[in-house]
Amino acid sequence: MGAWFEYECIECRARWDPHLVLYQCPRCGGLLEIELDLEEVREKVDRGRWEREPLRVWKYRPLLPIEDEGKIVTLGEGGTPLYRCRRLEERWGIRGIYVKYEGANPTGSFKDRGMTVGVTRALELGARAVACASTGNTSASLAAYAAKAGLPCLVILPAGKVAMGKLAQALAYGARVVAIRGNFDRALSLVREMCEAGGAYLLNSVNPFRPQGQKTLAFEVIEQLDWRPPDRVVVPMGNCANIWAIYKGFLEFQRMDLIKEMPRMTGIQAEGAKPIVDAIKRGLDRFIPVENPETIATAIRIGNPVNGPKALRAIRNSGGTAESVTDEEIVEAQLLLARTEGIGVEPASAASLAGLKKLVEAGEVDRDEVVVCVATGNLMKDPEEIVRVAGAPLEVEVEEVRGILA
Ligand code: F0G
Repeated sequence: MGAWFEYECIECRARWDPHLVLYQCPRCGGLLEIELDLEEVREKVDRGRWEREPLRVWKYRPLLPIEDEGKIVTLGEGGTPLYRCRRLEERWGIRGIYVKYEGANPTGSFKDRGMTVGVTRALELGARAVACASTGNTSASLAAYAAKAGLPCLVILPAGKVAMGKLAQALAYGARVVAIRGNFDRALSLVREMCEAGGAYLLNSVNPFRPQGQKTLAFEVIEQLDWRPPDRVVVPMGNCANIWAIYKGFLEFQRMDLIKEMPRMTGIQAEGAKPIVDAIKRGLDRFIPVENPETIATAIRIGNPVNGPKALRAIRNSGGTAESVTDEEIVEAQLLLARTEGIGVEPASAASLAGLKKLVEAGEVDRDEVVVCVATGNLMKDPEEIVRVAGAPLEVEVEEVRGILA
């Protein structure tokens, strides 16, 4: 390998110069991945120093494929808490339940891990603008990092299907926001065409530099559990990059002999948008896209996940599984997590916990496991449904308050 990292096609394994702007394999159209020369990485890693450094994305600089440290665009992402949920463990009779709380990132979701690397790469490659399609969080995150980098940012959203908090973020950070009368899948194919025709650098997760940042979640979990990998990691799936990114992180640590066992990657989708769950349950090599995806968890309202082939590999290669959950189960888990553990997450994030409950009840997950659920985004991004189910506050005249509390 010439450089210490290159693009590699996950289908035909062709390798490509990382200085090209590529979103798919020029030979076969397959999804691209970034492969590092792990021998070279190993020489740069000083584990003793690592263990003394606080958690954050750029702590793992030797494993992050950028070339010019002077160009790093950061808002201090990563280093999110890993909460042990003892009350939930007792309630469900499971040995270990942890929640990796990605809502604590600068813009309130895991996307920041990918954007710090992706936007840095955009600067390195000389991009003059950046763009994405989004169900909300990607656009909020990209808009913030683009602002920090001084790059113009275009985002395309499905009209009426993005939670208010996320929309407010993209607007506040100064992105050019366009809402189409169509769903996320359509928005992504549109923005992709526009970027491929030139003009802007695409920062959806088909750009393999994004998952390279997101893989740091796996590294943090390993350190937070004192170098003992959990038995299983449960991840909500939308466009399906995150489950792959986390898998890839564990894989790199395993290849560098930093861990022995791989956690079983377990993906959760909403009942109305579950092409990957269907493919896993039916043992199919390919997934069949869902025409009109629907769920209250708008972040994962995606019928044709572009990274589906990567998710299938992550799940199968690690001996994991996939499950779907209803909107009711999602909201129930969201409230339960808030009320028993004090952790506020958005609906899509609660899908991981709802899925774990279902898999344990079905006997597919052993009660003796130690499980990490990834809580991908913050409660405050998408508060409307919760206010509706939890009930509006009781409104009274000032003089009546004492009477109520008495
Ligand atoms: N959870 C949240 C809160 C998300 O915003 C997303 C994806 C996911 C889970 C799923 O992750 O796509 O890697 O499988 N949101 C994207 C967006 C699609 O545009 O913000 P994935």
